[in-house]
Amino acid sequence: MSEFSAASIEQQLVAIRRQLHEHPELSHEEYETTEAIRGWLTEAGIRIKDYGLKTGVIAEVGGRNEGPIIAIRADIDALPIQEETGLSFASKIPGKMHACGHDFHTAAILGTAFLLKEQEQALQGTVRFLFQPAEEKAKGAKQLIASGALEGVSAVFGMHNKPDLPVGTIGIKEGPIMAAADGFVVEVAGRGSHAAVPEAGLDPIVTAAHMITALQSIVSRNVSALDSAVVSVTRLHAGTAWNIISDKAVFDGTLRTFDEHVRTTVRTRLEQVVNGVAAAFGTTAQVKWIEGPPPVVNDQKWADQATVTAEALGLTVVQPLPSPAGEDFSFYLKEAEGLFVFLGTAGPEEWHHPAFDLDEKALPIAASFFASLATDALRKLADDRLRGGRQHSEIV
Ligand code: NI
Repeated sequence: MSEFSAASIEQQLVAIRRQLHEHPELSHEEYETTEAIRGWLTEAGIRIKDYGLKTGVIAEVGGRNEGPIIAIRADIDALPIQEETGLSFASKIPGKMHACGHDFHTAAILGTAFLLKEQEQALQGTVRFLFQPAEEKAKGAKQLIASGALEGVSAVFGMHNKPDLPVGTIGIKEGPIMAAADGFVVEVAGRGSHAAVPEAGLDPIVTAAHMITALQSIVSRNVSALDSAVVSVTRLHAGTAWNIISDKAVFDGTLRTFDEHVRTTVRTRLEQVVNGVAAAFGTTAQVKWIEGPPPVVNDQKWADQATVTAEALGLTVVQPLPSPAGEDFSFYLKEAEGLFVFLGTAGPEEWHHPAFDLDEKALPIAASFFASLATDALRKLADDRLRGGRQHSEIV
C-alpha cells in the first residue's frame, strides 16, 4: 500500500489551477497551457517526452529499470462559454471558460507527478503522464494514441471531477461509467410546391415530424428495460416562407448508450425508422453519422485495486451512477486495461455551466490518490509479471 500526502504542495496546486483557470484555451488551441505545463514539469526536474504534439504534453517519472509502464491522463482544454462565477481568478478571456474543470484535472495530475518525482527511485516501473488536448472535441485521445503515447502501457488511469460528490469521496465502478456519444444528421428530400396545392409536392416537414416522433419509440420498444439509451433530436431546419412547401428538411441530434451492442441496435433502428418513414411519405432520406467516442468501460481488476488504494487513504468510495456524457478516455481503454473514476469536488453547478466551480480542497486529494494508485499499480503489475514468469518456468 502506498500513501502519499500532498498537503505540502496544496498551495502550489491551487496557484496552478487558478493560473490555468484565468487563461482557458479551446480544443487544439492549448498553446499557452502547453507551455505552462512544460514549465512546471521542467521546474520539478521531470522529463518531457517528444511525441511531435502541437499542443499537449507527455512526461515520464521512473523507468530506471525494465519495469512495467502505466499512464495517467489529464485533459487540458476549456469550453466556449462566458464565465459567470464572479471568482477573483475568473477567466480573463471573453467567451472562454474552464467550465468542465479540466484546469483541476491538469493541476491535480501535475501534483501527482511532483509527488512521484520525490520518490522516483522507489518506483517499480514508469509512470507516463498524458496532458491531453482537445477532449471536448473527442479528438485528443485518438491523436495521442496515433502519436504512440500508449506504446508499452499496461494500464491507463484517468478521472473527471464530479460536482455532486462531496470532497473526500471517489466514485469507482467496474463496467460502463460514461456513455458513447454519437451525433446524427438526417436530411429529408421532398418536392416543393405552393402551400395551397400540397398534393403537387412531397412535404419533407410532415415527413420529418413523423420521423422525429417515431424515433422516440426506439428507447421504449427496442432497448431492454435492463439497458439504457438516450435519443434526442436537438435541431430542425426547413422552409423559407408560410406559403411554400419546402423541398428539404434537416434535423440532427445525439444518441447516448453505455454498451456497444445497444449502440449498434439504436443506430440500426434509427436508420430503419428514418428510411421507412421517408418511403411511406414518398420522400427520400439520408442519415449522416458523427462518430463519437465509445462508452468508457472500466476493468474490474483496476476498480478493485483503486478501491483498496482509496480506502487506504481514508477516502469514501461510492459506486457512482454512470454519466450519459461522453468522454474520449474510452479510446485509451480500447488499447489498454484501465480505469476512469469520478472525484468528488462539491461544485455548485454541473459540468459546462457558466457558474461551474469546484472545491479546491479536492486538489491534494486527487494528487495523492493518483500517486498512490500509480505505485500500487506498478507493484501489482511487477508482481503479476514475476508470478507469470514463475508459472511459465514451471510449465517449461
Ligand atoms: Ni470534462
